[in-house]
Parts: sequence; structure tokens; C-alpha cells
Amino acid sequence: MPRTIYVNGQYTPHHDAVISVEDRGFLFGDAVYEVIACIHGHLADETGHLDRLERSLRELQIDMPVERETLRFLMREVLRRNRQKNAAIYLEISRGAAKRDFKFPSPDTMPTLVIITYDFDYDGNAAVKNGIKVKTVADIRWKRRDIKTVLLLPQSLAKQEAVDSGYDDAFMVDPEGYITEASASNAWIVTKDKKLVTRAVTTDILRGITRTAIQKLCKEMNLVLEERSFTPQEAYEAQEAFTSSATALITPVIDIDGHKIGSGKRGDVCQSLYEEYRAYVDGLRGKQVHWEPGL
Ligand code: PDD
Repeated sequence: MPRTIYVNGQYTPHHDAVISVEDRGFLFGDAVYEVIACIHGHLADETGHLDRLERSLRELQIDMPVERETLRFLMREVLRRNRQKNAAIYLEISRGAAKRDFKFPSPDTMPTLVIITYDFDYDGNAAVKNGIKVKTVADIRWKRRDIKTVLLLPQSLAKQEAVDSGYDDAFMVDPEGYITEASASNAWIVTKDKKLVTRAVTTDILRGITRTAIQKLCKEMNLVLEERSFTPQEAYEAQEAFTSSATALITPVIDIDGHKIGSGKRGDVCQSLYEEYRAYVDGLRGKQVHWEPGL
């Protein structure tokens, strides 16, 4: 049975799902997206992701095409039709299709809404258990990285550069020499005295929903969190490093540019954070945490 995709009001078999060639997402990258984990049938931090989606849309003056409640229903319906309990939900909203013109189209242009769900094995994710190797690359993105747009070519190039060099992912480095984030996740280190360090929230990075959950967990676990920039050199010397995102969850980084991090295996902080995070996601059923843009 083909996978079902939701496109502009219709549940469609994957091979029949189409959008216009004049869609502004295609022509201008004029679109935003979210990725939400569905773990054992439960949407992790759904409220946070939808809060961020609405903020991204507001920043770009794109209308939400449907009510939030409708969106919540549509995601569940696509999962139900695909019989998926463990999936990554990909949700994209573009400004819609219109004759190619740099200025925005007329306000009655309907935004495009697409929902795709991908099978995802959260329990058997080898990277989460064994860790990944990361290469530092130049961050060549635009200046509004706090908006979750589909302008992902720099991240795609960063990841490919890393993979071509035998690594799994990239840590992107700004012109001042500080790590911003990974290609599609936030970057963290754990110092030798067990402090967690991750870049402060500005327009330089995407404020991860998983990052926000980890902030909350740090308080509960009595871990010290420093929100500040760090260099590749500091990361090489860290006790542990990891990335966080809706799909990576908490993935240990065991090697950066050929420097072994800590023991070269998933460290204690990473492991206990991961376990607490999974418990947090399970415990969220019904009570979701509010996400603040923090800018
Ligand atoms: N990426 N930073 C960047 C650049 C990202 O693309 C992502 C998420 C994150 C982490 O955000 P969150 O914790 O809300 O998932 C940080 C998604 C998973 C993706 O593009 O597939």
C-alpha cells in the first residue's frame, strides 16, 4: 500500500502527491517547516513545535493555512492512514503558488501545506548508542537562522562535505571561530567539570525544541548549563559532546576533526540525559511544555 501524504486538503498516495512548479517554496525557498517525532504513538513536544511553526510563519508574514487544532488532527490522520507509531513528521508550509515575482503575491494566495511522515526507529537508533563523528565546516548561512525555513542548501553542503571526508555530520563555525550548531541539530559540549555548554539563543542558531527540553532537564538533574559560544578547540578538549534534535534526540559526538572526545564512547552525562529525555517525552502525554522564542 503506498504511503499517504497530505497536500493542500487531500490525502494522496505518495506517487500522486504534487505541488505547483510555481510554488514559492520551490522558486524562492519561501517556506517554513517543522520535524516532530512520533515516539510510540505520542508526538514529542508537539506544542513547542507548533508554537515555533507559528512564530516562523509570523516572522515571514505567511498565514497559517489551517487552525492549529486542524493541523494536530491532520498529522494524526496521516500517521493513522500510514499505520505509523514511530515516525518523523515533516510539515511544510510555503507562501503558496504564484507567478514568479520577488515581491509577495496577493494576500488571497493560499499557502501550501504538506505533511509527510517517515518511519523512524527511535529505540534502535545506532547513532544514539554508538555516537557520531563530526567535522567542523564554515557556516555560510543567512542571518535569520532562528526562523526554521527550507533554505537548507548550506546545511546540505555542510553535511555532504563532512560525509565526503568520512564523518557523519558537521559542526558549523561562524567567522569569529565559534561553533554555531550542527547541520540539523544543536551542538553541545560537557566540560571536564561536568558543565553543559551550548550556544546562547540569538538569530545565529535555531532554538531547538529538544534544546529547550534539555534546559528543563538540567534543572531537574542539578546539571549546570552555560549558554555561551565555544570554539572547536574547546570542543576537542571536552569530556563529552552531543547533538540534540527532534530525530537525533541526544546523539553523542565521539570524534571532532579526528580528535577523540572523552573516552570515545557515549559518556555518562549523555546517557543519563538521554534516559531522562525519553522519560520526559513519555511523561508529556497530555501536558505539553510551552516554547518561548527567547529573542
Ligand atoms: N532539524 N538546529 C538546526 C539547524 C536544525 O535544523 C534543527 C532541527 C535543530 C534542532 O531543533 P529541534 O530540537 O527543534 O528538532 C537545531 C530537524 C530535525 C531537521 O531539519 O530535520
